[in-house]
Amino acid sequence: MKTQDLFDVAGLSVLITGGAKGLGRAFAEALLDNGARVTLLDCDGECLDRAVIELRDRGTAVHGDVVDVTDRAAMMKAVDRTVDRLGRLDVVFANAGIDAGPGFLSMSGERDPQGALEAIPDSLWDKVIDTNLTSMFTTIRGIRSPKRVSPTLPSNRRLNSPATISW
Ligand SMILES: NC(=O)c1ccc[n+]([C@@H]2O[C@H](COP(=O)([O-])OP(=O)(O)OC[C@H]3O[C@@H](n4cnc5c(N)ncnc54)[C@H](O)[C@@H]3O)[C@@H](O)[C@H]2O)c1
Repeated sequence: MKTQDLFDVAGLSVLITGGAKGLGRAFAEALLDNGARVTLLDCDGECLDRAVIELRDRGTAVHGDVVDVTDRAAMMKAVDRTVDRLGRLDVVFANAGIDAGPGFLSMSGERDPQGALEAIPDSLWDKVIDTNLTSMFTTIRGIRSPKRVSPTLPSNRRLNSPATISW
């Protein structure tokens, strides 16, 4: 495959989780500017609405769907809605994620007691694992079912930004 073809996203149907702001939204802009059709999923409805309105002002093909990526069933319904609406799904950017709080070292290299293992509540650990790890697995596994994979590409393309797992 030529590099030019590798970066050609014109006409592709792209799903971005956590697309209402930050990296997800920035990727959405770049993809839309290059002719992709983008679906943004996010749990923050207000922020998502704003992003969709602003991106549509650019005259681009964008759609938003409010969903919590840790809700497996809701996620798969959102993926199905995208496929039903656009007829295909070519690329998924499993990007939704949350901050896990301070690390055990501060920026100056000293120990930060707030980041010590014993200071991390179970509820935060569970939320980070559910959001940053498990949801990526379920998002990517979900789109691999025959109904959801575009027949026009040899394999669908995936991107994960929490950088914990990739295929
Ligand atoms: N910004 C960085 O320097 C950096 C570095 C390494 C990794 N990352 C990872 O990249 C991803 C995006 O980072 P960012 O800086 O753009 O974050 P951000 O906080 O600006 O945006 C994250 C988006 O994900 C959404 N989100 C969070 N939990 C969700 C859930 N359960 N369901 C649906 N949407 C949810 C938020 O509403 C938000 O719109 C995160 O996974 C982050 O861990 C970021």
